[in-house]
Formats: sequence, C-alpha cells, structure tokens
Amino acid sequence: MNQTVQQLSASRKGILATDSTKGIIRRFEAAGLTFAPELDKRYKELLFNTNNLENYISGVILNDSNIKIGLGEILKQKGIEIGIKVDEGLESFNNTDEQITKGLEVLSERLENYKKYGATFTKWRGVFNISDIHPSDNFISENLRRMADYAKLVQDKGMVPIVEPEVLYDGNHTNARCEEVTTKVLKKLFDILKEKDVNLTNLILKSNMVLPGKDSGVTMMPLEVSNSTLRTLQNSVPNDVPLIVFLSGGQTSEQAIFNLNEIVKLNIEKKFGGWDLTFSFERALQEGVLDVWCGKEENVSKAQEVFSNRLQKVSKARIGEL
Ligand code: 13P
Repeated sequence: MNQTVQQLSASRKGILATDSTKGIIRRFEAAGLTFAPELDKRYKELLFNTNNLENYISGVILNDSNIKIGLGEILKQKGIEIGIKVDEGLESFNNTDEQITKGLEVLSERLENYKKYGATFTKWRGVFNISDIHPSDNFISENLRRMADYAKLVQDKGMVPIVEPEVLYDGNHTNARCEEVTTKVLKKLFDILKEKDVNLTNLILKSNMVLPGKDSGVTMMPLEVSNSTLRTLQNSVPNDVPLIVFLSGGQTSEQAIFNLNEIVKLNIEKKFGGWDLTFSFERALQEGVLDVWCGKEENVSKAQEVFSNRLQKVSKARIGEL
C-alpha cells in the first residue's frame, strides 16, 4: 500500500476536512461573524494548533487559498498529511437543474503547484441529489467520468486521490431510496475507475452514510444506519480499496459520531469488506467551535477545548469503542 494511504489509515485517527468555501461562509454567519480571509486564517490556525491534534488526525484537507497562505506548514510540523480539494465546484449539467462538478481544465498544472506546498493527497467531490427522477443516468455517468479522470491524473502525479461521490442527505426520501441510489452510484464509479485503469489500492473512497432524508421525519438508530451503510458498501465497493472515509453530510456531531462508532463496530464483528473505515468530517468535527471562539483571542483556548473533546470522542468511534 502507498505510504500516504498507510499514514491516513492510522488506527484511532481520521481526516479533518476544512476545505469548504461556501459552507464556511455560512458557518461564520451563523456564528455572527462576517467571513474575511484574515479571520478564516486565524480560525484555521486555532484548529491546527490544537494540542495533540496529531494524535487524532492523520490528514487535513485544505482549500486553494488556505494552502497558498502556508497553513500546511503547521500540519507538516506535526507530521500530519496535507490534502487539497481540487475540484472547482459545480456547474449546470447540459442546461438541466442537475449540478455537475467542474475543475479538470489545467488540473495537471495545478497539481504540480499543490505538490510544491507539500500536498500528498487530493479530494474531488461530486454531488447526487435524490428526488423521484434524480439523479438521472446520463448525469451519473458524466459526473463519475470526470471524477475518474481526476483520479487518474492525480495518481499519474504520484499523489493519492480521494473520490467523493456524495449522495445528499437533503430531501424527504426513504432510507431504502438512499441505499438504492448510493449503490447505483458507487457501482458505476468503480466500473468507470476500472475502465480508466485507476489503481484501486492507491485510492480512498469518501462516502455518505446511508440515511433517510433529513426532511423525511424519520430518524434511524445507529445500528440500522450501520447495517444499511455496510450492506451498501459491501454490494458496491471492491475489496482492493484500502480505506473508506465518511463525510458527515449535515448530521449533528452526535449523530455522525455515534453512527460511525456503530458502523466500525459492526464491521469488526462481521467483516463486510477488506477496507478500513474512518471519518473525514468537516461540520461534525467543528460544531460549536466557531460559536465559542467568536473571533476573539481570549476565547481561543476554550474553543480549542471544545474541538479537542470532539477529537477524543471521534477517535474512540473510529475504533468502535465509544
Ligand atoms: P461534512 O462532514 O461537513 O459533510 O464535510 C465533508 C466534506 O468534505 C464534504 O465535501
């Protein structure tokens, strides 16, 4: 296994996502703060300088502006792998209301540049919205073709690609529908990755958990979530994939962490696949941290304590011992 994948699979650790660009603006606003690059830098420094971060976090996903202002340096000093989100967001798919991921143009040159900043792994996110008619077959194929082209380019540059086909939690669909769509998308993804000769042993899958839609009014117990999530992965992800990481997708921190714990526990008991499992949360790891900080220097250590407690909890969930 590639050394970076091995580092990212370290026991008790997972990946911290800090790469959102629109989401972070919304979260600043919700905490009563106006987003500005300087304030964002101070917030990321607060997170990355948290004591013992390296005991819980194996890698951090940065965005373009964060890597370019040198935030990766703090991580490098702690022995944490530097990741970079390389997709460039969404655009309309063939003038329909489906939103496809863009960013393949000049990706090769951009990757060279990110390597200079120390990046060893990358992320590309595609989103799949569930409705009665969505996602359409054409959309699924084209969105995943772009994702596979990205993965191939990244491997050719000697870096590890994270492929993230996110089936959205938004909507009022059933859990069965989420399972159906997630299975279909993942099967198609691995078909295309194989067609394009992407090396599955040197790749990480970032997946949603299988859940009923956020507006469905149904909340599933962690054991049910773990059963449907692991069944879905077993039916669609080849055993060659070394590591699957989960996004939190808009679940509360509590939900995401307890669901992860149950998924890991059940996989240890029943061994659904050859892959290892951990977290790559953004919102669920940072919940409450901004509110406590409020942009004020005097609140830094209190905010770091909230973050640190969260890290200790998710680290236990990562080994199914919460
Ligand atoms: P959330 O955990 O907030 O869903 O973010 C993970 C991520 O990287 C989405 O692209």
